[in-house]
Amino acid sequence: TFVVTEPCIKCKYTDCVEVCPVDCFYEGPNFLVINPDECIDCGLCAPECPVEAIMEEDEVAGDQQSFIQLNAELAQQWPNIAEKKPSPPDAKQWDSVTDKKHLLER
Ligand code: SF4
Ligand code: F3S
Repeated sequence: TFVVTEPCIKCKYTDCVEVCPVDCFYEGPNFLVINPDECIDCGLCAPECPVEAIMEEDEVAGDQQSFIQLNAELAQQWPNIAEKKPSPPDAKQWDSVTDKKHLLER
């Protein structure tokens, strides 16, 4: 399965949702997640993300492991998103910020 990781926080460009053939992205206030039970591992979304937040589960780095569980958990709570929408006005300034975990809103 594919997993959304830390770089998405406060960027939320939503380019990823446009290409997903099974519409398995779910949207929170400042982050998206993939429902691992619905993802068919097509890999189409990963190259669409401008901040490279999406990768296969077995490629998730050590400091990003908590996002595997977070994707599964939050996909059960958040609404589905299947169409691109405008990113936050300050998204660009968060592109290169690496420590954003504590800013994730539920
Ligand atoms: Fe959707 Fe494919 Fe990405 Fe899974 S890998 S979230 S099915 S686009
Ligand atoms: Fe997030 Fe990248 Fe999608 S920033 S919303 S995973 S395009």
